[in-house]
Amino acid sequence: MASIGFNAQQIILLVALGASLLTVTRAATVIVGGSENWRYGYNYTEWAANTAPFYFHDTLVFKYENSTPPHSVYLLPNLWSYSTCDFSKAKLLANPTQVKGDGFEFVLNQWRVFYFASGEANDCKEGLMKMVIVPWPRF
Ligand SMILES: *[C@@H]1O[C@H](CO)[C@@H](O)[C@H](O)[C@H]1NC(C)=O
Repeated sequence: MASIGFNAQQIILLVALGASLLTVTRAATVIVGGSENWRYGYNYTEWAANTAPFYFHDTLVFKYENSTPPHSVYLLPNLWSYSTCDFSKAKLLANPTQVKGDGFEFVLNQWRVFYFASGEANDCKEGLMKMVIVPWPRF
């Protein structure tokens, strides 16, 4: 009968491979917009495309302390409300005044499409303050 076990070399290779996967996909903390923070007129669709992939359990940090004009963070329920900037069924995550110091942290802790937008004035419709994020699985 042929042996189906792994030899030592194969086991070492598998352990090394597993360790490198874990290292690459550890949860990250990402400042939304990088040094631009969360502001009017910065293209967050482009930023998200350039920064992806985002992983399950990564933390997004929205920074806009004392911003003038004010901003906020909402989660929109679907692509239609996202496209039209319709906040009627949106969930408020952070209002204009509650973000202090290190910013508002949001963990990508659900398997879903996350539609983020600012709900103040024309932030969403004109100010590009919206983005779609889909978390990838971590191994
Ligand atoms: C924002 O970036 C996206 C993706 O690159 C692009 O399709 C879109 O035209 C940009 N919007 C503006 C107003 O520049």
